Amino acid sequence: ARKIIIDTDPGQDDAVAILLALASPEEIEVLGITAVAGNVPLPLTARNARIVCELAGRTDVPVYAGCDAPLKRKLVTAEHVHGKTGLDGPDLPDPKMELAQGHAVDFLIHTLRRHPPGTVTLCPLGPLTNIATAFQKAPDIVDRVQQIVLMGGAYFEVGNITPAAEFNIYVDPEAADIVFKSGADIVVMPLDVTHKALVTKQRNDAFRALGTRVGVAVAEMTDFFERFDKEKYGSLGAPLHDPCVTAYLIRPELFSGRHVNVEIETRSELTLGMTVADWWGVTDREPNALFIGDVDADGFFALLTERLARL
Ligand code: BDR
Ligand code: CA
Repeated sequence: ARKIIIDTDPGQDDAVAILLALASPEEIEVLGITAVAGNVPLPLTARNARIVCELAGRTDVPVYAGCDAPLKRKLVTAEHVHGKTGLDGPDLPDPKMELAQGHAVDFLIHTLRRHPPGTVTLCPLGPLTNIATAFQKAPDIVDRVQQIVLMGGAYFEVGNITPAAEFNIYVDPEAADIVFKSGADIVVMPLDVTHKALVTKQRNDAFRALGTRVGVAVAEMTDFFERFDKEKYGSLGAPLHDPCVTAYLIRPELFSGRHVNVEIETRSELTLGMTVADWWGVTDREPNALFIGDVDADGFFALLTERLARL
């Protein structure tokens, strides 16, 4: 199984991404979960990550709290999408499991140093603050990362928090800039692909029909999420962004994309956090990321439902 660290700001879709990973021990070994401020402030994301572990019956997975604010900016949150708690929808109990001791950034550094080079993959599902801070504090770890598979950015689909920018990149563009310039092997799930992973009524019903605590909770989460997205994406339902990351680790063949050069806008007020991706190869800048553009959505939801049924 591939060893991963999930860096996250749950978020209903983050929660589903975590559940998918925890349900797939043959392919994925979750070494730990690092929480970051994003959809909601850090105390809530650190809480929600533990709620999800308990829902999955996996209190053995350590959850670390990380950075509570972007590198240089004030935190922008997304309660308008995820609700006040960040995990609105299902009625889940407060977590009993404690946070792991120590800072998420130190966990990232120590874990990468402890394992042989090229054996730990990072899966960021929120703003890239923890990852960038770790890279700045311990530049030696960059070469030890096997791969970074992240949700963030957009090309043709442009933006969801501003006309030009996707939320995760917009919240901490300086952190994203550090990560994209790091030289690490990066796979990106931008809005272009996540807007094809839509939770239709039928797909939501399939989660609920599992009849398990996890199945019902996931149906309630995606129902809630949908309230916001429905007007925007039409009757097809809400995009399930972050699970694209963990699904890619299990079934990469469901996805396709291009190796492109991606740079992050950090100066313009108008287009702050834009992922400027050279999709058509109009510059001679070296590709630094695999930008995913397409997914077999039916295959993706079949995988997700089948795996959630195991929890
Ligand atoms: C991203 O922003 C968050 O609201 C979601 O959890 C996802 O990671 C989508 O733009
Ligand atoms: Ca997220």
